[in-house]
Amino acid sequence: MTGLIRRLRGLLGRSPAKAARAQIYEGVDYLDGYVAHTEARVAADPRSAIGGRWEEIGELQFAFLKAEGLRPDQRLLDLGCGTLRGGRHFIRYLDPGGYTGIDIAPACIAAAERLVVDEGLADRRPRLILNETRRMDFAQVADAAFDVILAQSVFTHLPGPIIAECFANVGRCMAPDAAFYFTFREAETETRSDEKEFAHPWAFFEGLAAANGFVASDCSARYPHPRGQRMGRVSRVAG
Ligand SMILES: C[S@@+](CC[C@H](N)C(=O)[O-])C[C@H]1O[C@@H](n2cnc3c(N)ncnc32)[C@H](O)[C@@H]1O
Repeated sequence: MTGLIRRLRGLLGRSPAKAARAQIYEGVDYLDGYVAHTEARVAADPRSAIGGRWEEIGELQFAFLKAEGLRPDQRLLDLGCGTLRGGRHFIRYLDPGGYTGIDIAPACIAAAERLVVDEGLADRRPRLILNETRRMDFAQVADAAFDVILAQSVFTHLPGPIIAECFANVGRCMAPDAAFYFTFREAETETRSDEKEFAHPWAFFEGLAAANGFVASDCSARYPHPRGQRMGRVSRVAG
């Protein structure tokens, strides 16, 4: 078996799994490929589908935002909530109705809804939204004024123009003194690998923040991500 895989690798120049993954993205719009890939991964295992280290990275997000001052009475938007790796901690901690999760993958929202029931969290009244247009326009939450927005492991899977759309519109759903936190991988120029892994320069985020009336700061020193993701923060006022 191992020999066959090695021979196939030799023929294809990459592993069969990598070749199959590349096929999902071939000839389609990036987000179409990314959502199809996410749907397949969630069907196989909702916990590992959105990046793995379910307990560790779920708790890391929660501990980080609590240390940044997140209070139970505040309203949080989990942008790209996935299958609630972090969301399940926030839902438990926030007052009923305080948590909103949004995602572009139907399987993620369906798995999130199941988890809410399975973990006895329905009385916390989380709002789970499927973003069917896949636009970063925050149209479905434009009536809300979130105190904190978190995009954990989201920009690490998105090209620059979609992130720029996010920065241009996120203010629509931010309370005046809100903070928007986002993780990213850092590189000197935008890079893409393994179909869905993206890295961006910090200066890219600083530029988007300035262009949209935000102040940006790099909080990575307070965020010990086990795989080296960094953490940025933007707000309308210095935080
Ligand atoms: C790697 S997962 C991370 C999920 C979750 N934040 C966590 O840490 O477990 C990234 C998620 O972002 C979602 N996503 C990507 N672009 C999005 C967009 N424009 N709006 C909402 N969700 C998006 C993907 O569907 C995916 O579920």
